[in-house]
Amino acid sequence: MSLRCAVAGLNRGAKFVELLQANADCEVVAVCDPRPFKLDEQSGIDGFADFEQMLETAKPDLVALITPGPAHAGQSLMALQAGANVLVETPNVYSAEDASAIVDTVRETDLNYMLAEDYIYMGWCQRLAERVAEGVLGTVLGGMAEYTHDCRGAAFLNEEGNTRPLSAAGERGLTPLWRFSDLPPLAYSSHTLGPLLHLMGDRCVTATGIVAGRQDVVGVDMFPLETAIFETESGGTINLTNGFMLSHPFVFFLALYGTEGSIRVMSTDYTDPEALRVVISTDEAGPGWRDWPMQWHERDDDRDHLQVMVDAPAPFDEARSMDFCLPGVLAHESARRGGERIDIPLF
Ligand SMILES: NC(=O)c1ccc[n+]([C@@H]2O[C@H](COP(=O)([O-])OP(=O)(O)OC[C@H]3O[C@@H](n4cnc5c(N)ncnc54)[C@H](O)[C@@H]3O)[C@@H](O)[C@H]2O)c1
Repeated sequence: MSLRCAVAGLNRGAKFVELLQANADCEVVAVCDPRPFKLDEQSGIDGFADFEQMLETAKPDLVALITPGPAHAGQSLMALQAGANVLVETPNVYSAEDASAIVDTVRETDLNYMLAEDYIYMGWCQRLAERVAEGVLGTVLGGMAEYTHDCRGAAFLNEEGNTRPLSAAGERGLTPLWRFSDLPPLAYSSHTLGPLLHLMGDRCVTATGIVAGRQDVVGVDMFPLETAIFETESGGTINLTNGFMLSHPFVFFLALYGTEGSIRVMSTDYTDPEALRVVISTDEAGPGWRDWPMQWHERDDDRDHLQVMVDAPAPFDEARSMDFCLPGVLAHESARRGGERIDIPLF
């Protein structure tokens, strides 16, 4: 019998409808989006404007939450309480209280809950995971990462429903988009922290954050550039820098530091698979960096990384799903509090 699935949020979520339909064990029986034209695009699938009504009527076994980040925790709890397993996009939580309530509910209901952190399934991460597990870096002492993405072009919606840039602040009739008003850079840390912790086999135990350029833009508390330092359970360190509202084209950067080797990964354009450079240095191979040619998504099994994520038996449970986002959220909280070090709850 196939799993009755529902997808909420049909922008990126339209791709999840395809991914779930392509899984022979799944059938998408319902979609949910408050925008009627988004429901119309999913012909043949029952559409709902209201999430609770969708849960009550369609009674799905699994809900994919591809809605705006601030909706995720509340919708996760509603879905779990209605008896549905949850696959949720990043960021999955905005506070330690959200995380704790979700973990408790998952354990009480004995359902599955997984963060849809897709970078871990990309070819580059898969290859690095194999080499790191073989011990090529020796003991991994720490990691560093950066995720910088110039999002200034879409900060507001105007009354005609068109996006307006940050520079339009002050024009009449603008509504801030959630990515501008409700996505502090460090809350969007799972694309870098997820792969780092996965490769290191570790988790973060404390978070310290600091912010640069903080300002009020028409009532939005804006954090252009944030840096976090995490201590890990095994005594390592991770530092992350994220920024969205600044003049800096896309960069994804990640480094792993080991006792016998180190790795650096950098992409300067996520739409160009060739715009990735990976270099590795090991004591065994001798001094200096050597290129490790590979592409951004391309996996050794030639499969689409998102399809692998959706098809795989959930490799990350509720506790691991919290490890990838909550530290960033708490580092942002630390930055708001002027750099106070915060203990991260471990589930
Ligand atoms: N992994 C990645 O690389 C990646 C890339 C893009 C987006 N994302 C994540 O995916 C999620 C969605 O991103 P997006 O770009 O599609 O966002 P978006 O804001 O462009 O679209 C969100 C969609 O959800 C709908 N929606 C809003 N409130 C809803 C509600 N309460 N119930 C149901 N639907 C609702 C909106 O009408 C819209 O169609 C976010 O969490 C984002 O961070 C991840």
